[in-house]
Amino acid sequence: MSIEFDAHNSVITPEGVFVIGTYDESGKPNAMTAAWGIQSDFGEITIYLSKHKTTDNIEKTGEFTVAAGTVDTVTICDYFGIESGNNVDKIAKAGCTVTKAPNVNAPIIEGFPLVLECKCRSWDPSTGILVGEIVAQQVDESIITDGHVDLGKMRPIIYDTGMQTYRVIGEVVAKAYSEGLKIKKSGDGKWDN
Ligand SMILES: Cc1cc2nc3c(=O)[nH]c(=O)nc-3n(C[C@H](O)[C@H](O)[C@H](O)COP(=O)(O)O)c2cc1C
Repeated sequence: MSIEFDAHNSVITPEGVFVIGTYDESGKPNAMTAAWGIQSDFGEITIYLSKHKTTDNIEKTGEFTVAAGTVDTVTICDYFGIESGNNVDKIAKAGCTVTKAPNVNAPIIEGFPLVLECKCRSWDPSTGILVGEIVAQQVDESIITDGHVDLGKMRPIIYDTGMQTYRVIGEVVAKAYSEGLKIKKSGDGKWDN
């Protein structure tokens, strides 16, 4: 028997954990956490944002970084989502070290092994939709296997909106564009799992 949930009781999975790094007009770094974001095309990320210090910064610089949250960075990720750079120097408070990204005017926060460098393609404050062109990606060699980002090494986290918790992405269960061939190549209703 299914139970009807309220439409606002969000459970869509996965929601990522994205740390958006920006500079203000004086070059002071800030970071905020966003869960409502997706890879919306090759080389493009779309994130849904309310008005924040971060959006003010992006309006001024037009550039930002997006770091993927991981098990090792979960405390910092949560902190960046519960305090505003309008009130506190979050980078200093968290004890983070930052460097300027090589390709955009935005900070890279040490300790995050995968960072996207983005230029603002469009930002619409009325819808809250930020579209970023990914111009480069900085990947720590510790999470690379055979030239690919290895999620087993990286241990990215997702945000579980229903339970308001962070979960680690789990094991591989099947090969994409391959698992379904069991059905495609079988007779109707005659495939072995
Ligand atoms: C797990 C989590 C996910 C969040 N996701 C979003 C989001 O997708 N969009 C958004 O506008 N705010 C989101 N927030 C809230 C912002 O991170 C928060 O308001 C933050 O203080 C903004 O920082 P800033 O003012 O320094 O830019 C999230 C917070 C948490 C803890």
